[in-house]
Amino acid sequence: MQILVTGSIATDHLMTFQGRFADSLVVEQLDKISLSFLAHDLEIRRGGIAANIAFGMANLGMRPVLVGAVGEDFVSYRSWLERHGVDCESVLVSGTKHTARFVCTTDTDMAQIATFYAGAMSEARRIELGPIARRVGGADFVLIGANDPQAMLRHTRECRTRKIPFIADPSQQLAFSDGPEIKELIDGATYLITNEYEARLTEQKTGWSTDDIAARVTHRVTTHGKDGVTIESPGVDPIHVGVARVARLADPTGVGDAFRAGFLAGLAAGLDHRRCAEMGSVLAAHVIETVGTQEYELSKAAFLDRLTEAYGADSAHDIGPHLRCPRP
Ligand SMILES: Nc1ncnc2c1ncn2[C@@H]1O[C@H](COP(=O)(O)OP(=O)(O)OP(=O)(O)O)[C@@H](O)[C@H]1O
Ligand SMILES: [Mg+2]
Repeated sequence: MQILVTGSIATDHLMTFQGRFADSLVVEQLDKISLSFLAHDLEIRRGGIAANIAFGMANLGMRPVLVGAVGEDFVSYRSWLERHGVDCESVLVSGTKHTARFVCTTDTDMAQIATFYAGAMSEARRIELGPIARRVGGADFVLIGANDPQAMLRHTRECRTRKIPFIADPSQQLAFSDGPEIKELIDGATYLITNEYEARLTEQKTGWSTDDIAARVTHRVTTHGKDGVTIESPGVDPIHVGVARVARLADPTGVGDAFRAGFLAGLAAGLDHRRCAEMGSVLAAHVIETVGTQEYELSKAAFLDRLTEAYGADSAHDIGPHLRCPRP
């Protein structure tokens, strides 16, 4: 099964300042503010929704097709993703803008000063899915994740016109979109995936009730953080899958993306929704244990152990044959 994963591709540049920003702020002079902090360290983390999801899928042995826009600085990030099995051939490289970047400095009070630069991401609206689907021999699913808003609308419309099943995953973009735009993004989706908060936000902004949404999307997947996930489908009782054990909570960033990666890998393997959600939950648990969204190392054995522990030997038995993790 070919899955195109569309959405943001970005890096986070995280610095720490060993002092308090507040000590340097002169309230009466804020209109002339000019401050520079000496950062103690810099960490550059690979991220972006589409890249995180594709990375997770590749770790489970798939070859996802990453679709998004980056700058010429993407070289080392590209080789990292390709080395892990992500197809980056259809990533659009802007000739003028840098890859989207989040730059954040945190002080000893955990106060933060941050800037987000969308950069090349805004060129994702130039991407046409048709030629990409042709290159890979047809697309079975397109995930439409948070991205340049025009790109999200374009991808969604193109999926509808070309009758390619799509997975609506608007996440952060919901906060910046209005009702009509959100309606356009989810109407006709085969899957709508959101967390609990985004689910309510979607209903509030569109004015669509839970039933209205059920009439417009085939399956609705709602994640509830440590309370697991619910999958609603027509004609069957909702499925609830609890979380897998987490040995240590290191950093929750990327947990939602990891869940999606596992869920999609399950779908691609033709597994039922319960098993898909179990795969998603186990991958999510792995990500929580490492700092960063693409820093975990996954082995097939560790994945199966955690599946067995959380969901029983039957689960590992059903999923095991479909796992083609690069590490045994
Ligand atoms: N504390 C936890 N322990 C174990 N699993 C978790 C935990 N938090 C989240 N998960 C798993 O990850 C899934 C997605 O989590 P959540 O609902 O928090 O997504 P999200 O809010 O979209 O996250 P993100 O901050 O990455 O956007 C959950 O359904 C669950 O399977
Ligand atoms: Mg999320």
